[in-house]
Amino acid sequence: MNKMVRCSISLLFLCGFTVLLSTQTMAATKSEFVTNLLSEWEKSAKAENSKFNGFKVEEGKALFFAKRMHSDKNELRSCTSCHSTNLAIMGQTPVGKSIDPLSPAVTTDRFQDLEKIEKWFGRNCKWVFERKCTSEEKGHYFTYFFSL
Ligand code: HEC
Repeated sequence: MNKMVRCSISLLFLCGFTVLLSTQTMAATKSEFVTNLLSEWEKSAKAENSKFNGFKVEEGKALFFAKRMHSDKNELRSCTSCHSTNLAIMGQTPVGKSIDPLSPAVTTDRFQDLEKIEKWFGRNCKWVFERKCTSEEKGHYFTYFFSL
C-alpha cells in the first residue's frame, strides 16, 4: 500500500469516527441537586401510591407526549404543544414566545432552581391536565428528560 492510500484510509476512519460522535447525543448527567430532588419525589411518590415501582424513562415520555382534550377550550393539549416533540430543539408558546430546548443535554442550565421548576410544573400541568402533577409524574418526567 502506498503512503497516499494509507493516508486516505486513515482519514476515512477519522471522518467516520467524528460523524459517529456527533450524531450520538450524550444524556446529561444529573447534578447533586437533581439527584436529591428525585429522591424527595420518590419518597412522596411512595406515600402517594403504594404500588409505585420507581421512575421510568418510558413513563415520563408517555406522559410528555400524552394528548388531552381541555374541558372548555375544546383543543387537544400536551407538553409537546409548547416544547415540541423534539426536546432538543426550540419550543414556542401559543403567543409565539420562543422557549429554549427542554433537554438538559442541550440547554445546560436547565433544572437548577426548585422555585422555577415548581412554578412551571404548576402552570404547565394545569394548562395540559387541568390539575397539579403528582410527585410520581414529576419524577417520571425528569427521568425522561435526563435520558435525552
Ligand atoms: C403553554 C406552553 C407550555 C406547555 C404546554 C408546557 N410548557 Fe413547560 N415551560 C413553558 C415555558 C414558557 C417555560 C419557561 C421557559 C423556560 O424554562 O425556557 C417552561 C418551563 C418548564 C420547566 C422548567 C424548566 C427549568 O429549566 O427549570 C419544566 C420542568 C417544564 N416546563 C415541564 C413541562 C411539562 C412536564 C409539560 C407538560 C405537562 C409542559 N412543560 C408543558 C411552556 C410550556
